[in-house]
Amino acid sequence: MAIQTERIPFPNAPATAADTNSAGIPKLGFGLWNLPKESAADIVYEALKAGYRHLDSAAIYGNEAECAQGYHRWAKETGAPRSEVFITSKLWLNSKKPENVVRGLNKTLESWGLEYLDLYLIHWPGILQTGDNYDGSPQVPTDDKGFPLRDYSAEDKDTWAALEAQVPVKARNIGISNYTKSEIADLLKTAKIRPSSLQVELHVYNQQPELVKYAQSEGIQVTAYSPFGGLNHIYGSNAEVVNDPTVKALAQKHSTTPHGIALSFLIAKNIAPIPKTVSRVKENFDSIVALTADDVKTLEGVNKNKRYNDCSEMLGYIFFKDEKDNTTILTQIAKAGLSRAQAKVEHLVGK
Ligand SMILES: NC(=O)c1ccc[n+]([C@@H]2O[C@H](COP(=O)([O-])OP(=O)(O)OC[C@H]3O[C@@H](n4cnc5c(N)ncnc54)[C@H](OP(=O)(O)O)[C@@H]3O)[C@@H](O)[C@H]2O)c1
Repeated sequence: MAIQTERIPFPNAPATAADTNSAGIPKLGFGLWNLPKESAADIVYEALKAGYRHLDSAAIYGNEAECAQGYHRWAKETGAPRSEVFITSKLWLNSKKPENVVRGLNKTLESWGLEYLDLYLIHWPGILQTGDNYDGSPQVPTDDKGFPLRDYSAEDKDTWAALEAQVPVKARNIGISNYTKSEIADLLKTAKIRPSSLQVELHVYNQQPELVKYAQSEGIQVTAYSPFGGLNHIYGSNAEVVNDPTVKALAQKHSTTPHGIALSFLIAKNIAPIPKTVSRVKENFDSIVALTADDVKTLEGVNKNKRYNDCSEMLGYIFFKDEKDNTTILTQIAKAGLSRAQAKVEHLVGK
């Protein structure tokens, strides 16, 4: 079996996940964010043909139905059973009130034309109001000043309880994304089903060793989004990770691309990267190499704690607060239109 399709086990998987081969995630996945609607079906088809066996999707990506076409075309042609491909999706913030969770999940299942997901993640902490004409579709509702409309009538632990009710029928595993260590610890206090997986921004420049160690020690498998750092155009097409001299030197040593080193580094650490590409599908799949323990140590030395994705102001929730000082938090509170009183309730200030 190719290393890319070997699975990293989920120590916390519900026993029922084994029935559909969902109790572990392929070491290399394929990210679906920013795949253009018009070509998404062909790209997903090509990715499955190239050998990827994990598709990482989300309602907010707006292309689930198109990606699904590529999956179904490939499955029909090859006769591969559903259990061959691991499919992840994510619950958007306006479907996080407990009574709406199943509507968000149903919408995604309808778009995919599937009976179940292998993994369903809370996309980000915090809850937004449902928005106008709510039908389970993702929205970022805003007030007349353009500030995001938070919903404080429920908390993530309530969303989690509603997700637990969907296991195993519609979701074989449930998990979290963009959670900090303290947010995970809070969730674990009330969770009856422990998260199988944590998906966060992880790459050579943002290694988050403490978070990874904590999650893994709690039996939570870790998946790396944006494994090439700032390379996607939303982050400004910042190529500093793949241009890093250490990464480039290792690419030369192992006769692969710098992108291959960025992915192989994560895989060597038992973390599952989910790179996205429209045009280097096979190239990235074939770029994985076996790094030595010394190579891994060298790359660990390159970490800069540099994060490219922080939507705090856009979504009205201060993400990653564990790593922010009070001044940053206060600036973000103001930019998100959050009241100081509410910020106090959420323990954002005066830490
Ligand atoms: N949970 C979350 O909140 C969250 C947040 C962000 C991302 N994600 C997931 O993680 C996936 C990956 O993250 P991402 O899309 O942010 O970033 P990424 O995979 O690190 O980088 C994507 C960018 O790299 C370029 N690229 C890929 N392979 C390349 C190569 N061999 N040579 C040169 N350029 C290359 C792509 O361009 P081309 O397409 O032109 O090749 C694209 O611009 C997403 O698709 C999504 O599924 C999740």
